[in-house]
Amino acid sequence: MQEDIKKVLYSQEDIHNVVVRLGKQLAVDYAGKNPLFICVLKGAIVFMTDLIRQIDEFVEIDFMDVSSYGNATVSSGEVKILKDLDTSVQGRDVVIVEDIVDTGATLHYLIKLLSTRQAASIKVVALMDKQAGRTIPVKADYVGFDVPNEFVVGYGLDYAERYRNLPYIGVLDEHVYTH
Ligand code: XMP
Ligand code: MG
Repeated sequence: MQEDIKKVLYSQEDIHNVVVRLGKQLAVDYAGKNPLFICVLKGAIVFMTDLIRQIDEFVEIDFMDVSSYGNATVSSGEVKILKDLDTSVQGRDVVIVEDIVDTGATLHYLIKLLSTRQAASIKVVALMDKQAGRTIPVKADYVGFDVPNEFVVGYGLDYAERYRNLPYIGVLDEHVYTH
């Protein structure tokens, strides 16, 4: 598995430091608010489980699976719900937890959907922001890393469902997807 990684972008320690920083900030901003953290499956799952353990406040969690990618490394721009929330967001302070914001299509769709469902507030925490990929002008409120315009895997992020279990984030070698 490791031989498919061209370069390590963020080590386990880099990620830990960023997760602690984001968790502390969220603990302050959501103190006493009982926010609902929405993990965008599957990529954000590792980030979310680490993140919530850095927050010394009551939080609730739920999961949503949306897809815009299939097995390609370039977004199709289309978003569809594969698994919806179990929880009503009406009147809730919602925090969308994303692994990476690329074109912005997923986030744009989710923010619109949750505001239609009358969430009291909607904020976004993204482990990574790939600003060069943006085609829809949406912004994450809390960002871990600004990443270069490369396809990254590990720490939850996949290519064709592989590499999610890498403990660090790296750039995938082109030989994996060019044959
Ligand atoms: P959009 O384009 O909607 O994309 O902002 C958000 C989703 O696309 C996936 N994505 C990636 N997944 N490496 C990945 O493993 C990447 O470099 C990458 N860029 C975008 C990701 O699932 C994200 O939630
Ligand atoms: Mg994803």
